[in-house]
Amino acid sequence: MRGATGAAEAGAVAVAATAEPLAAPLLDLHPAPADTRQLVIEGLSRSPKQLPAWFLYDAEGSRLFDLICQQPEYSLTATETALLEQQAPAIAAALGSGTLVEFGAGSARKVAPLLQALAEPAYVALDISAEHLQTACARLQGQFPQVPILGVCCDYSQLEQLPVHPLLRGSAHLGFFPGSSLGNFEPAAAQALLLQFRRLLGPGGRLLIGIDQPKAVARLEAAYNDAAGVSAAFAFNLLARLNRDLWGDFDPTAFRYRARWVPEASWIEMALVSLRPQQVQLAGRRWSFAEGEALITETSAKYSPEAFLKLAATAGWRGEKRWSDPAEDLSLHLLVQAN
Ligand code: AVI
Repeated sequence: MRGATGAAEAGAVAVAATAEPLAAPLLDLHPAPADTRQLVIEGLSRSPKQLPAWFLYDAEGSRLFDLICQQPEYSLTATETALLEQQAPAIAAALGSGTLVEFGAGSARKVAPLLQALAEPAYVALDISAEHLQTACARLQGQFPQVPILGVCCDYSQLEQLPVHPLLRGSAHLGFFPGSSLGNFEPAAAQALLLQFRRLLGPGGRLLIGIDQPKAVARLEAAYNDAAGVSAAFAFNLLARLNRDLWGDFDPTAFRYRARWVPEASWIEMALVSLRPQQVQLAGRRWSFAEGEALITETSAKYSPEAFLKLAATAGWRGEKRWSDPAEDLSLHLLVQAN
């Protein structure tokens, strides 16, 4: 038995959800809302104009991202899920014991094979969205009634330390960061995040992280420009959000969506490109766009295993093991602390 979460003996066996949903406890650390107006002003003052990627994820953006994950061109989610399912026993053996801490758990769907394979699973899901987290943890608790599960509503990038809780006793935890989300952070921010994970997971902590790899340019560009237009809708939703939240008057018909591979940076750049010279009112200011000028909505870096391990080393992590799909599209790296 691993802690006072109200769950019974650990030792996971997945069972069908019961009629009465089991509640997983939620710890709400009340993350301070970001000063979005200030961040938008800073982002639009940059050259090129660029906004933080997390700004894409309002309720509609989160719904559209889930849809992107189902598009045939966007194979990342299906590939990583299959890899986790196939390799769960080997990954669980390599992870060893400890509480699994997922950073930005979202719908917490990828963790299931690990909870099934770990000898004594316990799971803490960190996410900024309390409502989403509660739903995800309740669903997972229904699927794994014997696994102690805790949701923590927080901004993990700003967290001083993991909360004091029976599930987080001891100093070394097992981090889980799937989905290649690190790719949405530019190099300096990615390094800072890896350092933050190291600090939060404690001395001896380990990190299992999913990293998408460079591949044929046509495949990469198609993944971010699917035929159904969901990726484009995801980017355009940003304009709707800006208009709504910051009193804007963006005209979406005056922009086109563009996703292109930038080889020098090894990333996909997603942008809304102005179709004509125009002025936009937003956050109490007037912003000029030249014809062809881009508003970058997001970048998604792709790392070869060597490039990723080099970055990880700058944050004090060493690669212990790596699992990949047969096409080498994506890797799950198990990192341990270098010293
Ligand atoms: C969340 N993140 C890893 C996605 C990616 O592939 O960079 C976000 C995304 N944006 C458009 N499509 C997918």
